[in-house]
Formats: sequence, C-alpha cells, structure tokens
Amino acid sequence: MTKNEQLKLIIIERIMSEGRITFRDFMDMALYHPDLGYYMTGETRTGKAGDFVTSPTTSKMFGKFIGRFLKNSWEALGKGKFTIIEMGAERGLLAADIKEYLAEKEPEMFVDAEYFTFEHGDTLPDVDSGCFFSNELVDAFPVHRVQAGRAGHLKEVYVGYKNGRFEEVLDKPSTPGLDTYLKELEVKLPAGFKTEINLDAVDWIDRIGGHLKRGSLLTIDYGYESKELYQPYRARGTLLGYKNHQIIDDPYADIGDQDLTSHVNFSALMHWGEKAGFKTTLFTDQSHFLIAQGFEDVALSLRAEVKDDAEYYDKYLALKMLVMPEAMGETFKVLVQEKS
Ligand SMILES: C[S@@+](CC[C@H](N)C(=O)[O-])C[C@H]1O[C@@H](n2cnc3c(N)ncnc32)[C@H](O)[C@@H]1O
Repeated sequence: MTKNEQLKLIIIERIMSEGRITFRDFMDMALYHPDLGYYMTGETRTGKAGDFVTSPTTSKMFGKFIGRFLKNSWEALGKGKFTIIEMGAERGLLAADIKEYLAEKEPEMFVDAEYFTFEHGDTLPDVDSGCFFSNELVDAFPVHRVQAGRAGHLKEVYVGYKNGRFEEVLDKPSTPGLDTYLKELEVKLPAGFKTEINLDAVDWIDRIGGHLKRGSLLTIDYGYESKELYQPYRARGTLLGYKNHQIIDDPYADIGDQDLTSHVNFSALMHWGEKAGFKTTLFTDQSHFLIAQGFEDVALSLRAEVKDDAEYYDKYLALKMLVMPEAMGETFKVLVQEKS
C-alpha cells in the first residue's frame, strides 16, 4: 500500500470511529500526520522538483533582502545579542542564504546574532531581543471552512465518509471561536458566502507575543486584508491544492501527496497581533518591500558576482520574478509587527 493509501485509510478509520470530523482536522491530518502527512514524509515539496515554487526556491537573492531587513531590525534595537527565529524553514534553504549574506556582508551583526529554524511540532523559545519571521507559513496552517446561512448563522464544513467516498456536510460550528473570529473582525458574510477561518493563525500569533519580549515579527505570505478577502468574487473561498505545479481543486484527491493551502487574512494577523502586544509598522506587497530593502543594490551585486552572461541572465530573471507584480511581487504581502 502506498503512503497516500495508508493515510487515506487512517482518516477513513478515524471518521468511522469518531463520526465526521471538521475540515480543519482533515487538513491537519493530510498535511501533518506525523509519518504520512504531506509535509512530514521528508519528500521535497517546494521548488522546481516539488509541487510549487516559493521565493527562496525561486532565487537565492531573496535571502539577501531578508538579511538586510534583519540587519536593520538589529540596529533599531540598539545592536547587541539578537535572536533570529525562522518558522516553517522546511529544509533550510532560506536560512542558508540569509546566514551566507550576513556572514559575508554584516560580520558585526553575524557575531551578535543567533539563528534558529523551526518546523511543525517544534516548541518556540523565549526571546528577549530579536525577530521571528516566516515565508509561506501561515497559508499552510489547517483551516476551518464555513458557509454563511440566511439569518447570518454560520455553518461549518465537516468531512464524512459514505458509500466509498468522502462527503462534505454542513452543520453547526464546532467551536464558538468561528463566530467570534468574524465578529471581532467586524465581518458580515452575505448568505451563501463560503470562506476559510484560520484559528491556528490566531493561536500562533498569540503564542509568539508570549515568546518575544522586544523586536519584530515579519510575515510574508499570500493573502489580503478582510475588505479584499471577502469580496463577492471570492464567495467560494480560497482553498487550493497544488501538485506538480498544477492546481488541484479536489482536497480529497491524492491525500498526503497534494499541498492544501488557503489565503491569509492579514487583518486577522494585525488584529490578534495587537492583542498579543504587537504594533503593525508595515503592511505592503513583496514588490514594494524588496524595493525598500535595496532591490537595485542587490541586482547590481548579482551582476558583480556572476561573470558568465548566460548564468547572470538566468539568475536575474529569477530575481525579477520576486518583484514583478504579475509574478510574486503583488501576490505576496509583507507584514511587519513590532514589540518594544
Ligand atoms: C509552504 S511551506 C514553506 C517553506 C519555506 N518557508 C519556503 O518558503 O520555501 C510551509 C512550511 O511550514 C511548515 N509548518 C507548518 N506549520 C508549522 C508550524 N506550526 N510551525 C513551524 N513550521 C510549520 C511546514 O511543515 C512547511 O515546511
């Protein structure tokens, strides 16, 4: 039996013994079952050889921009000991690029800085002064799926198994947290509107607030603020699957072998970030963020580093992907929240 078949069977057995489960729990098992989940098998998921590309797998230069951001954060905190926590670091490609940049270009800071990477299931440490950051982490959290009813009552999507197939069933929310989430964000969904609610993101930012005394939280991901996320043209939600660089719109196909992801609600991160003691200091798109971190300098340094013309153009095109609005520049957003 393949790993996917085993995982599918484990999920079916759970539904048979417990009854239907929330979509959030289904997605959690599909992505994070300890041995068989999509992100837990040790297979390469990001980059050309995987299912989807991310900024660090598109261009090594991405690490230079984050390195520059970290250096500025270290200076803003008055230099000295600085702890860098990268969450969702996967196989550590970005960590290696950032460390290489800091060691070479910012040796004074590199001596002061400690760099730690964290993956799913790791416990975050307490940090006195530093930066917690992630690239494409929050979109990978398991989400509840809901649908607004006529009288404004929210229904949640549950996953059952009947006649040899997974089936989605709408019923009362599994937790009052779903209604509270929308109320706190002052979102009123029109009847029939379907969307995802990422309660794991709320817990996550609250936990980081508890771990970081002074410093910044940098979150890079795709998504929108509420006013854009809940537009009628997104009335079917944003949940997507990815496999071999193709979109899959059936979350029950290839369980454990397709990525499942949803767009991040940045208003929620700002709202619950404030409750956790953070102040939002920047919200922009990746394109503007990279320009502010010195895109021109980084592009010029690439020309100086790579002598071979063909290799230079390949690397320059990859660098451009990060910043071009129609590629990754506008899709990806950058949120900086600070605590002092
Ligand atoms: C879409 S991948 C992004 C990988 C990498 N940051 C990049 O940009 O190429 C999401 C990663 O986040 C990890 N992840 C999910 N939940 C996590 C959590 N609670 N804490 C730390 N990492 C987590 C997944 O295992 C996966 O490696």
